[in-house]
Amino acid sequence: MATSCARDDDRDFDSSELGTKEYWDSAYEKECENFEDVGDVGEIWFGEETMVKVANWIEDCDDIKLDDDIIDLGSGNGMMCIELRKRGYNKLTGVDYSDLAVTLSKSVAKSEGYEDIQFETGDLITNVQPNPCSCLNKQYKLVLDKGTYDAISLMPDDSISPRKQYLQTVKDVMTEGSLYSITSCNWTKDQLIDFFKEDFVLHSQIPFRTFQFGGQTGSTVTSLLFKLKS
Ligand SMILES: C[S@@+](CC[C@H](N)C(=O)[O-])C[C@H]1O[C@@H](n2cnc3c(N)ncnc32)[C@H](O)[C@@H]1O
Repeated sequence: MATSCARDDDRDFDSSELGTKEYWDSAYEKECENFEDVGDVGEIWFGEETMVKVANWIEDCDDIKLDDDIIDLGSGNGMMCIELRKRGYNKLTGVDYSDLAVTLSKSVAKSEGYEDIQFETGDLITNVQPNPCSCLNKQYKLVLDKGTYDAISLMPDDSISPRKQYLQTVKDVMTEGSLYSITSCNWTKDQLIDFFKEDFVLHSQIPFRTFQFGGQTGSTVTSLLFKLKS
């Protein structure tokens, strides 16, 4: 159960322990044990349906080819990379700041026969230039984030500085023509566009089931594709 801390900056939600590395290290410690004991891969954030929708969208996108370099930021148990590997994408990298997430993702990928997916430990939030993680010193055609910007947004105290550092990291791994996909449940479409607007233009939106409440139409998950401004 997440404990809430004081609200700050432009967030209209409270910070929580999901914004701390201690939380993720302890979560992946349990998930590693579960995977070893019963083969449970652990949590796929926002559910398998969302992961499949994002993968379907990538498959349908003419701009992304099977041998394009793709990175998943905050790759957790690695299931997004594994889903794309199953569909034939063959230059896949996952990066996560929790060593145990990387251990889990390597084990899951190995069990599926996909040892060629690169998983590395790396922190997206750093002032050190260049980033000490080698996979964050390369450029990719497609940069994926499902739930990681959300986690960073939940950091206690100030989340603006880490989010700005995150934005810099995203830009550093992109080049002309690269695409960036962000899937979030904390931020609305308008809030995401507002945060990324200086550097990115909206390319498309992955459609999710919407609900209607009090005359408003909403969606619990927002998934946007951005293109780096030239
Ligand atoms: C909500 S989970 C999403 C995991 C995975 N992307 C998914 O969709 O199932 C957020 C992930 O981001 C990772 N993470 C959070 N902050 C990070 C940071 N500063 N650098 C790298 N990874 C980070 C966490 O360890 C966790 O695996």
